[in-house]
Amino acid sequence: MNAPLPSMDQVRIAVIGLGYVGLPLAAAFGSRLPTLGFDINAERVAELERHHDHTHEVSAEALRAARLLTLSSDPQALAGCNVFIVTVPTPIDEYKRPDLRPLESASRAVGRAIGRGGVVIYESTVYPGATEEICVPIIERESGLGFNRDFYAGYSPERINPGDHQHRLETIMKVTSGSTPEAAALVDRLYRQIVSAGTHQASSIRVAEAAKVIENIQRDVNIALINELSLIFHRLDIDTQEVLAAAGTKWNFLPFRPGLVGGHCIGVDPYYLTHKAQQIGYHPDMILAGRRINDGMGGHVACRVVKLMRQRQIQTAQAKVLVLGLAFKENCPDLRNTRVVDIVNELRSYNAQVDIHDPRVSRREAQAEYGIELIAEPEPGKYDAVILAVPHREFVELGPERIRALGTPGAVLFDVKQALPRASIDGCL
Ligand SMILES: NC(=O)c1ccc[n+]([C@@H]2O[C@H](COP(=O)([O-])OP(=O)(O)OC[C@H]3O[C@@H](n4cnc5c(N)ncnc54)[C@H](O)[C@@H]3O)[C@@H](O)[C@H]2O)c1
Repeated sequence: MNAPLPSMDQVRIAVIGLGYVGLPLAAAFGSRLPTLGFDINAERVAELERHHDHTHEVSAEALRAARLLTLSSDPQALAGCNVFIVTVPTPIDEYKRPDLRPLESASRAVGRAIGRGGVVIYESTVYPGATEEICVPIIERESGLGFNRDFYAGYSPERINPGDHQHRLETIMKVTSGSTPEAAALVDRLYRQIVSAGTHQASSIRVAEAAKVIENIQRDVNIALINELSLIFHRLDIDTQEVLAAAGTKWNFLPFRPGLVGGHCIGVDPYYLTHKAQQIGYHPDMILAGRRINDGMGGHVACRVVKLMRQRQIQTAQAKVLVLGLAFKENCPDLRNTRVVDIVNELRSYNAQVDIHDPRVSRREAQAEYGIELIAEPEPGKYDAVILAVPHREFVELGPERIRALGTPGAVLFDVKQALPRASIDGCL
């Protein structure tokens, strides 16, 4: 007989991986149902035990309010849980291939802890098929249990947007799925407890996996198109922002803007689907063309700044350039896969002296991840060029005059995303 699923009052949740996705989830479930928050990073668990979240996604009050939440970095603590929600990273390796090691290791931990009737729900972004082809066999091997007989699976992708306090876990409709109709119903019921925006039950795990990955691919390709247009319009000496403002008056023109595409989602997830497509013999032209264009934008920004300096007789070698912002996007401390490093590296290849300032990101992390020594405060009047790479609120609030005052008289001010008034800057995408 197939093992019965736990009833709602028997549910004991374990959230595995307490990062940007896992922590808000653990806090939300932990205010309603017995929940264990598990992370292999003992330092992360220790800071959360002090009710401090360095990612600023969950407040100290919300952590305190999660009265049924316990935290641990000891895998033994997973014993006794019957719903395992996996929210570990799914990065790519140096060849841009999916790096499934965190997912595999989390699956091994689940396999060692899961019992009959247990359910494992994956939230990490993957390609269609990964849950059932990669993760489930690991759990079967570790546990000795049979899939869809002794234990069940689900997939419910996360859609949160770090730094965005309007679109939160509770207020974004959640896609759910399960490996049997009964498991799908349980997964859906669980998420409806915490997501006030409701749920959309997909017909299978593979459909839910594919839905998540294409949400990010659609965004990546759309931004790539606008980036390509901005490269063309720059050569034609047409202001891209003016073109977008004009075209945007049509009811069905989509409001994408040019910019750097970094982070661990939009710039990474497309490679999960292209990997799977290539595995089955299909070469995805459009998705990879979008990736190539977006990955080239940092270098393009640096070349534009060099050209503007040359036009003002500023020697690039030894020129002092200030880059404002290192995070992968505005108003968050997240440094993962930031493409600002492409601007910095390209400028340094011209022997420019580049200072980077970002009050939001950890100086230790910048050093460890990219070998970048952030400066605490830029010295006014020092720079030949200032690049507003990431328009954090505090930079935009400084205003163009105070940002200009960081440069020498006649310095170049390049505003990548045009966050400052057009008349006050020398260039933008
Ligand atoms: N951050 C986002 O905006 C976002 C949005 C939607 C989906 N996603 C997806 O969600 C997943 C998680 O992303 P994130 O941003 O929360 O990552 P993150 O790096 O912020 O957090 C992951 C956490 O998992 C922990 N971890 C790693 N391996 C582990 C293991 N084997 N066992 C237990 N813990 C482990 C890490 O220590 C870390 O604390 C990824 O697949 C990502 O693509 C992220």
